[in-house]
Amino acid sequence: MCGIIGYCGPRRAAPVLVEGLKRLEYRGYDSAGIALARVDQQASETSETGEEPGPLRVIKCKGKIKDLRAVVPADLPETTGIGHTRWATHGEVTDENAHPHLDSTESFAIVHNGVIENFHQLKDHLMAEGVEFRSETDSEVIVHLLARAYQGDLAAALKATVSLLKGTYGIVAMHRGEPGRLVGARNGSPLVLGIGQGEMFLASDTTAILGHTRQVVYLEDGEVVSVTADEYITSDLRNREIHKEVDHIGWELESIEKTGFSHFMEKEIHEQPEAIRRALRGRLDREYATGHLGGLNLGSRELLEVGRIVLLAAGTSYHAGMVATYALEELVRVPAVAELASELRYRNPLVERDALYFAASQSGETADTLYAMREVQRKGGRVLGVCNVVGSTIARESDGGVYIHSGPEISVASTKAFTSQLAAFYVFALLMGRMRHLSFDQGARIIEALEAVPKQIETILANTAPIQALAKRYASCEHFFFLGRGINYPVALEAALKLKEVSYIHAEGYSAAEIKHGPLALITEETPSFFLVPRDGLREKVITSMKEVKARRGPVIALAVEGDREVADTADEVLFVPEAHPLMYPFLLAVPTQLFAYYCALARGCNVDQPRNLAKSVTVE
Ligand code: F6R
Repeated sequence: MCGIIGYCGPRRAAPVLVEGLKRLEYRGYDSAGIALARVDQQASETSETGEEPGPLRVIKCKGKIKDLRAVVPADLPETTGIGHTRWATHGEVTDENAHPHLDSTESFAIVHNGVIENFHQLKDHLMAEGVEFRSETDSEVIVHLLARAYQGDLAAALKATVSLLKGTYGIVAMHRGEPGRLVGARNGSPLVLGIGQGEMFLASDTTAILGHTRQVVYLEDGEVVSVTADEYITSDLRNREIHKEVDHIGWELESIEKTGFSHFMEKEIHEQPEAIRRALRGRLDREYATGHLGGLNLGSRELLEVGRIVLLAAGTSYHAGMVATYALEELVRVPAVAELASELRYRNPLVERDALYFAASQSGETADTLYAMREVQRKGGRVLGVCNVVGSTIARESDGGVYIHSGPEISVASTKAFTSQLAAFYVFALLMGRMRHLSFDQGARIIEALEAVPKQIETILANTAPIQALAKRYASCEHFFFLGRGINYPVALEAALKLKEVSYIHAEGYSAAEIKHGPLALITEETPSFFLVPRDGLREKVITSMKEVKARRGPVIALAVEGDREVADTADEVLFVPEAHPLMYPFLLAVPTQLFAYYCALARGCNVDQPRNLAKSVTVE
């Protein structure tokens, strides 16, 4: 949420920053800006004569990165700068509220991600001392505090500043008196250093710098980094220097480009077979018909002692966690429950000794999930991460875990992370199940079924025309129901979430059994119901619900298994998925509903990859 980039090196900074912001745009897209400081002949000459180098140049505006690009001249000479793309929290979307923010003397500039909770007190204090504010943001207090704390060393001033802040931040700052230097600090909002050849980058996200370097250093909370073109120093708030490991980014540049698809959402939907294969690779053990997960940090004895599994997550990851609870209860025979991380945190949760927790998060940065994880850990619980982004905060702070290896997910609407999370949870369920009640044969059948999923999804993706045609016919509807039962009930919730977030159609996900308890009142000829009807033990029940809707003249769309004539005859419209093991239908049913949402959004002319009011990776509560 919000994107930060900083550059210092020999190149013109502006194009590097704008390009980096373009890559970060999925993190926020309501306004953007850059600040630049010159490190060149002219700047050093003026400082030798005792004069201050010229003021920082700031260009910012509301709108998307293309709007910023239109007002940034191509030939700006500055070689150090910072940039930001915003998702508004405090203050409306205006030019003034866009970052970077300057102090009153225009000598300091900062960009900030996160929320400063005590900004009212800090602002009142600064205003009482005569500081004039130009924006309504919480972030602006940082730059004024920085200017007041400065005594010749920008890193020291930033440390003094952050010690006054309550809340979350990823900050990058610059000062015109130290024009070749950037400093950064983090607390609860990611910041990564990119090490290039004679140049350095600071960013909130590796996608911003992947085109320039693969050598990165992930900052931890409470750390500060001071960067020039040739070197960096990391230290803590007590001025102790910290030696950091340099990591290598494994992703290819291609993975963050559309590569022929119209949108990232479409690309990522189509990447699912490969993403699931990666999530399963090396984790299915045919010899012992079990699962293998290297990073759990739990021995067999500890796994055998687990008496309850709790999955913490938000949004789509929560829906994946809900599906996983059905698979876990079925295969492991232990109680499993998915909890909304945002709710659990404030409920003073009972953390039982034999409970095992998972924090599932594509980004690994979602504040709600992170704080819930910390709350559970504080109370002695063990939390495993199920993350996509390597090195993300949840991945680092969890007590072990599983990477899902989906590759970068750029579309704000999450798709491939959902099915890859399912794959990772299923491997865990297989592993635990085989340690308890599952026989070799049962384990082998699960492996076979899981390995078949990517091919089955490929069959669905090879014939998207009927889904597109259906979406065209129904895209003008303003209300939708998605209905499923059992393990596919969370898939109905996820389908509704996908449709509403990208197409702005109001959609509700329900258990098909529940509609008779109230929602049937909303069924009209204009309100279609989209039923998930795989061949499993609840199929007959779902068909009964379909008939209840039809009897009230509600249009019925069914997503059924190939060859299911009864469902096809009951529904007004039908789409098919291949026959599969009953536990695998969540994978297969999710994909057509993702495509349906995508095509509805296209038909309605929506900005699919950047839905209104949203942003990827929600690092604020
Ligand atoms: C929906 C969507 C969100 C995220 C949620 C959690 O398409 O993307 O609902 O799933 O914000 O994000 P992560 O998984 O990064 O914790």
